[in-house]
Amino acid sequence: MQTSVISEEIKPLQQQSFISEIEIGLLARPAYISPKFLYDPLGSHLFTAITLLPEYYPSNTEKNILDHYANEISNVIGANGILIDLGAGNCQKAEALFNLIKPATYVAIDFSVEYLEEALNKLQGKYPKIKMRGIGMDFSRQLEVLDSIPMSRRTFFYPGSSIGNFLTSEARKLLTEIKNQTGDGGLLIGVDLMKEDFILREAYDDPLKVTAAFNLNILRSVNAHLGSNFNVKQFQHLVKINHQENRVELYLQALEDVTVSWPGNSISLKEGDLIHTENSHKYTVESIKQLLKSAGFESNQIWTDPKQYFALIYAQ
Ligand code: TRP
Repeated sequence: MQTSVISEEIKPLQQQSFISEIEIGLLARPAYISPKFLYDPLGSHLFTAITLLPEYYPSNTEKNILDHYANEISNVIGANGILIDLGAGNCQKAEALFNLIKPATYVAIDFSVEYLEEALNKLQGKYPKIKMRGIGMDFSRQLEVLDSIPMSRRTFFYPGSSIGNFLTSEARKLLTEIKNQTGDGGLLIGVDLMKEDFILREAYDDPLKVTAAFNLNILRSVNAHLGSNFNVKQFQHLVKINHQENRVELYLQALEDVTVSWPGNSISLKEGDLIHTENSHKYTVESIKQLLKSAGFESNQIWTDPKQYFALIYAQ
């Protein structure tokens, strides 16, 4: 029987603090739900489907950059190190790196532990020589110190422009926490760049409505945590582009007056009211360089695609 590579390190993430975190957001005006609740098992699968959509350019562009500059990237990182994957998900992006940088150890960190466990077990079977570990962690709150992992030759991997989901101040905090744990290694990070509205709109409101399903599913994920009675049929997916803040904003909009209740509380929303679920900040090459510098990274190498849609950066 195959033993799990992950279970002993997965601490049950604190359910009680999730309940109060969700309640605080739902009771705020405007209401919000933290995007991490998008990634329940179904949400994680729906996000994987999003990454396969031609309209969702971040995934395919990042992959193209990685393929095109494979040699340069493997030269700067080098072989036999420790690959630490932040938000590993289905571990597919890391797997694409395996052949390039041949890590000795792979550490997969994710909030969605069930999904991670499944993916990592499969991966270990496929790459028996790489030492693999899975860690359940909510690093959007704090990147816990990875004491048990050697400090040398660490490469943090943070692809998919997930950094864009943080406000600048939060992004700086996380990047500083990463920098403090990189030692002589570095950070390979994917960052989405600002571009025309119509491209952004298609990417975040695709014609097959996969993104709408992904966003709406957060209400079911909240129901599971909170014991609330959100009905997804009473909401629609809404995208706004905020040029002042350089970001795409994702919302769920009530299609009618709605009352939602859960043990100990309830909220009423009017038709048209919004629940904010995600910000996706878009950077320029200059603004991301600045941010990395302010987090303590001294140097970086930047690769982009011909349309300058996306940047892949190795920072040290
Ligand atoms: N991190 C992804 C992004 O900002 C997540 C994402 C893609 C997303 N589409 C979404 C989040 C729609 C909420 C709704 O690109």
